[in-house]
Amino acid sequence: NKFSVLVTGGAGYIGSHAVLALQDAGWPVVVVDNLVTGFRSAVSEGVPFHEVDVGDGKAVRSILREHGIGAIMHFAGSVVVPESVENPLKYYDNNTARSRVLIEAAIKEGVRHFVFSSTAAVYGEPDTARVSEDSPTRPINPYGMSKLMTEAMLRDVTNAHDLNHCILRYFNVAGADPQGRTGQSTQGATHLIKVAVEAALGKRSHVAIFGGDFETRDGTGVRDYIHVSDLVAAHVLALEALVEKPDASMTLNCGYGRGYSVREVLDAVDRVSGGEVERRQEPRRAGDPGELISENARLLATVLWQPRHQNIDEIVGHALAWERQSALEPAG
Ligand code: UFG
Repeated sequence: NKFSVLVTGGAGYIGSHAVLALQDAGWPVVVVDNLVTGFRSAVSEGVPFHEVDVGDGKAVRSILREHGIGAIMHFAGSVVVPESVENPLKYYDNNTARSRVLIEAAIKEGVRHFVFSSTAAVYGEPDTARVSEDSPTRPINPYGMSKLMTEAMLRDVTNAHDLNHCILRYFNVAGADPQGRTGQSTQGATHLIKVAVEAALGKRSHVAIFGGDFETRDGTGVRDYIHVSDLVAAHVLALEALVEKPDASMTLNCGYGRGYSVREVLDAVDRVSGGEVERRQEPRRAGDPGELISENARLLATVLWQPRHQNIDEIVGHALAWERQSALEPAG
């Protein structure tokens, strides 16, 4: 017995993959996106689409009513760590204030389930090699703090109202739909694998390596890269768990529990593309931790998640395939 699911940010990178995963699992989907960074063309045909900002409570409420929405997956937001350092208020607006409006609309319209896109950035610079959900949350940039504040709101609202939630803390999301139906089309992208595959296809001259003096195996930043299809599969499982246990709420890390350095990622890009991207060593970026790797036991146990695309060459390969098939203009 499946109700309609509202996907905010459904025209964006991760949201567009979530729409496909929900449809594949038989859930009716409705998309809301303000198209500031998303693309109308990323939303599959036949999916009801509303060009609306989640901060427009009145419009959102009427969409929730019109479609009889039973759950919200909230992807819409801003995601670039260095930008958040430059422009913190943008992050507290898009990720915190507008989420508050959306959550309020959900409560007022009797939506029962809320799946929230949070981030490993809530952990800041962890003391341990791998971070669990119980590790301290001490964001070192406004991006992480803006998401952590929304997590806090959700917990409080869940205690006070008839709503349960799943907070998913993403590590580094990369790759594209293995069937080539969608991928990352973000303009002016800053994320490593996206930037590197653009460089591999000649859309950029080089890849900057930000920081060579971290306390990591080769001095470059280490991250837990997770294939976007495995990530959105976790969302569908989380939704099903919420529906099954209306009294349960949960916070789950989404990662594979292993890390690759910037140099290792670039080596994978070279292996997969058969070329050699030019590397340029540059200083550290503001707000970057050295190493961030997920403890994922809770995700595996709670929703019986089965990762399928851990291989870094596969992640890079799907990102590259999408990059090849998308428009050939230079990206910056
Ligand atoms: N990096 C480079 N060159 C680049 C881009 C990135 O060397 O051109 C490095 C970064 O310094 C970092 C690593 O590659 O060491 C990954 O950087 P990304 O920009 O791809 O991603 P971040 O780790 O900064 O942030 C991402 C998401 C956040 C999430 C975080 C969790 O944007 O939402 O991963 O690790 F919180």
